[in-house]
Amino acid sequence: MITMLDHPAISFTRMAIMSSIVVLLTVEMVARGFNFGVDALSMNYYMLSCPMAEGIVRDTVFRSLQDDPTLAGPLLRMHFHDCWIQGCDASILIDSTKDNTAEKDSPANLSLRGYEVIDGAKDELEKQCPGVVSCTDIVAMVARDAVFLTGGPIYDIPKGRKDGRRSRIEDTINLPFPTFNSSELTRVFGGRGFTIQEMVALSGAHTLGVARCSSFKNRLSSADPSMDSDFAKTLSKTCSGGDTAEQPLDATRNSFDNLYFIALQRKAGVLFSDQTLFSSPWTQGVVNGYAMNQAMFFLDFQQAMLKMSVLDVKEGPSGEVRKDCRKIN
Ligand code: HEM
Repeated sequence: MITMLDHPAISFTRMAIMSSIVVLLTVEMVARGFNFGVDALSMNYYMLSCPMAEGIVRDTVFRSLQDDPTLAGPLLRMHFHDCWIQGCDASILIDSTKDNTAEKDSPANLSLRGYEVIDGAKDELEKQCPGVVSCTDIVAMVARDAVFLTGGPIYDIPKGRKDGRRSRIEDTINLPFPTFNSSELTRVFGGRGFTIQEMVALSGAHTLGVARCSSFKNRLSSADPSMDSDFAKTLSKTCSGGDTAEQPLDATRNSFDNLYFIALQRKAGVLFSDQTLFSSPWTQGVVNGYAMNQAMFFLDFQQAMLKMSVLDVKEGPSGEVRKDCRKIN
């Protein structure tokens, strides 16, 4: 049976439309040109241009942690503070100049350490493959390796992030405050596309490192029912050493484990923003899950970190590969 669609005029029109689509697609691909696949993030981004990149970074972190195991915490925190402000773009590494006060000089970042680890990795990478590996990728890989080398999960992250050109102290106002309650944290993390579960998993980064008294002393001025009374005495004793005295965030500050969540169950969270995760019914179930099942925490943590590591990344000409991580080219 002959249908209308078989009519020679209609067949011709269909063929003409089809070939126009093919031409348009080809033009589009040519227009995107050689950028296609080059600018996009990928797991093996440096496979041809700098095959040793991952190894160089891992060796650098390994040696740094051997010399000073307490660096794991600040190195992990550096990646968070980088990605949260202006997206992951190494804006945290820029030094202030006479015309510009950079993020790193904000009160929220004054206790960050480990910049020399990034510089060390960058120096080695510049020797092996000059101008290729971005400072942002180094920060992301260093944080990932710090997690693994302290006993946490091993996971791969895409590479190819470009370095940004802006770093302003005023932008750091957007970092979450340790005085935030669960709803405020949920709002802030939700605004960046993270679920409640991902937010609690990411907070599990506080399994590493310390807080200074200035970050939690407001909790000591009046009796806080969400805090164990013996733990309150421990925190007060720490604070007798002054504002910069350090309190480990869990019982094993240099090991990546789930003791942070167990501490929250015992009302021994150091920051208000930690303990609120157990106090609030919205997040308590997730805390209990991770306290009971470390493997589940590790799995969720690595997935949430992967998501955080590509937050608003700059690709292609919207960024650069800095020669010196402390200043724009
Ligand atoms: C949930 C919201 C968060 C708040 C309010 C918060 C706040 C803080 C504060 C106030 C400190 C102590 C700073 C000091 O006194 O020197 C700290 C330490 C730390 N934070 Fe967070 N943080 C949050 C989420 C995160 C995330 C998502 C990560 C990483 C994925 C992270 C990693 C760390 C690490 C590892 C330390 C220990 C740093 C060290 O040992 O020097 N934090 N955080």
